[in-house]
Amino acid sequence: MKRVLLFILPILIIISVVFTVSGIVQVRFTQDKLMDDLKRKAKTVNESLELSARYILVNNDLKSANRLVEIFQRKERLQGCAIYDKDGQILAITERFSDWSQKDKPYIKDMLINKNPRGELESFREYTVYSYVQPVLDDDNNVLGLVEVLYDTSYMFNTLTELWKKISVTLIILILLITIIAFLIQRQIFILPVRRLTQWFSHFQRGETDKLRPFKEEGEFGKLISEVEQVALGLRVARKAVSDEAHVRIQKEEVWTEAKLRDLIHAKLGENAFFVVSNREPYLHIIDENTGVPKCVRPASGVVTAIDPILRACGGTWVAHGSANADRQFVNSKNKLGVPPGEDRYILKRVWLTKEEEDGYYYGFSNEGLWPLCHVTHTRPIFRETDWQMYKKVNQKFADSILEELPAKNPFVFIQDYHFTLLAKMIKEKRPDAIVAIFWHIPWPNPEVFAICPYQHEILEGMLACDLIGFHLQFHCNNFLDTANRLVECRVDTEKFSIVRANKETFVRAFPISVDGYIGGNILKIDPEQIKKIRKEYNLEDKVVALGVDRIDYTKGIIERIMAIDRFLEKYPQYRNKFVFVQLAAPSRTHIKRYHELIAEIDELVEKKNWKYSDGVWNPIVYLKRHFSPEEIVPYYSLADLCIVSSLHDGMNLVAKEYVSSKNDLSGTLILSRFTGASRELTDAIQINPYSIEEFSDAIKFAIEMPVEEKRKRMENMRNIVKENNVYRWAGKIITELSALKKEAG
Ligand code: F6P
Repeated sequence: MKRVLLFILPILIIISVVFTVSGIVQVRFTQDKLMDDLKRKAKTVNESLELSARYILVNNDLKSANRLVEIFQRKERLQGCAIYDKDGQILAITERFSDWSQKDKPYIKDMLINKNPRGELESFREYTVYSYVQPVLDDDNNVLGLVEVLYDTSYMFNTLTELWKKISVTLIILILLITIIAFLIQRQIFILPVRRLTQWFSHFQRGETDKLRPFKEEGEFGKLISEVEQVALGLRVARKAVSDEAHVRIQKEEVWTEAKLRDLIHAKLGENAFFVVSNREPYLHIIDENTGVPKCVRPASGVVTAIDPILRACGGTWVAHGSANADRQFVNSKNKLGVPPGEDRYILKRVWLTKEEEDGYYYGFSNEGLWPLCHVTHTRPIFRETDWQMYKKVNQKFADSILEELPAKNPFVFIQDYHFTLLAKMIKEKRPDAIVAIFWHIPWPNPEVFAICPYQHEILEGMLACDLIGFHLQFHCNNFLDTANRLVECRVDTEKFSIVRANKETFVRAFPISVDGYIGGNILKIDPEQIKKIRKEYNLEDKVVALGVDRIDYTKGIIERIMAIDRFLEKYPQYRNKFVFVQLAAPSRTHIKRYHELIAEIDELVEKKNWKYSDGVWNPIVYLKRHFSPEEIVPYYSLADLCIVSSLHDGMNLVAKEYVSSKNDLSGTLILSRFTGASRELTDAIQINPYSIEEFSDAIKFAIEMPVEEKRKRMENMRNIVKENNVYRWAGKIITELSALKKEAG
């Protein structure tokens, strides 16, 4: 509509100007004509009055004068008439106009002298009258008196007003007609075909190819449509060809690589794209505090570390919360952008949340409720009804955003984590044909622990709408089965490892997540200059370097780690001045009180321990509290002689796997908490109980003093495990499982 108005506005302006000018001319013309008529009429009437008045004035017959003015006043539109004597005094005047005698009339005197008739408009009371005055002369041309007729002019004003009204109404009708006609024409020749083309294309996008009917359109628009049809056909054929080739290749390759996963997805999912949902987005656009310019940042997140390589390999759409302050600047009209920036390997769709929604759903229910509930760290979960309401609202918001994108046939939706326990149910309500899986990246507690959650039934019901639920460990699968068995009405099949509730079967499987393992052409780039620079900057030259890489979270055991380092230096003073612990710490969830306190606690502890041991040059702890990109972390992995992962409880912990896969030269040792999922696979790590500070401090010494050959052997074993069980395998297993479900579904 706006565009139509823009298009016709100049036409309307021109028409209005032309109409107004011609209206003014027409009104002027009519006004002149009416005035001429009036003058003519006044003159004629006055002349006939003058004839009768001459006789009256000669005889000075006052009675006849009065009768005469009364007779004349009956004439059409004549307001009144008056007869003056030769001194300009009124002899007789129409009665209803008797006030006229009070009016100052300087022209009377002039007329007695110059003897010329006069016709002018005169103001009288609140209106204007036309006065025509004529001298009455005797045969010798002497003035006997004057006769004056007065005409009402208001009818002229009425006539002109009517005329203006007609002109305005005609103009308005014309403008309306032009607008309606322009709108109808534009709709017919532009909007309707574009709308049909858009619908056609969106059916094509969603894979509803059977609903597509060919277009019959002439002219330039027809040409555009036929080009679009050609592109669409080409795309369909290409997709089919890729899928067929993929089927063949997939049989050949053995190790899981990016290429093998891509082939698997093409073979198994066919034309359907892959949809991933998570709270954390893989690429954030934030305004750089120093330069004020937006920059793209990768968040510190296990989910992102694992899923980004998969989508890079296979394409698809990732729906996530657009949480950064410059995110809105980089999306298109559908809130989407191609990522990684500049490479456009897959689509990121950002969902916007209000501050209240983020507070209730993310900080509140997800991270003050479910997070401590699922981690055994003795932090009390907080459940607030308001948070829960927001959590439900945000789950619905994500469901709506995903439903908009789903293709027509059996779409695959892969949900990440505890932020979206209700999403599967919401999606299935609208799209029962969708295959939906959730992967739970954190531990699942035992039924006694989970039973304290006031919303346990809704959460379990929401999750059991999934076709597949994945955990890192079999232990977490067992806990989930026990939980469902105890808390909701369902049938647990321990042989198939599935849960049947209301005729819906949900499979529960363990898929230990991993990293890409720097394989399949994704070679790790290590810059020796960068390493030298870091060593120099933090005084690490000739030192044994231990490394920690974490989000600042109470589950990560950072406090215990510092305490163990303190104990290690106390017990083994020979390592003072020879050992440095570098902690890369990304601040996280800082609006939550517990996290806020933790940050302060760590700051204080680091300061205290450095003060305790510092000799003025050497500090045992280098604490770098900021966000580090994956590329920035690589040189630290490379220079670290040992990496310490001391989580008090952790679903998997990908830092452990990243450290191992970065050690191309087989150097380095991994100290790993036995409360991480990774400890099940990385059995060659030095495993610790982070709560036991003594054991932990001894493990540091043991790791440093381990013979080089043993270190290499252990590292090699761990690398082989990570290489084989890489993230492509993880995704491949899940997709194979999902596509088996798809076949069953039909
Ligand atoms: O791995 C668990 C997890 O909560 C992920 O879901 C998340 O990506 C990561 O930790 C980081 O947490 P957040 O996204 O809250 O910063």
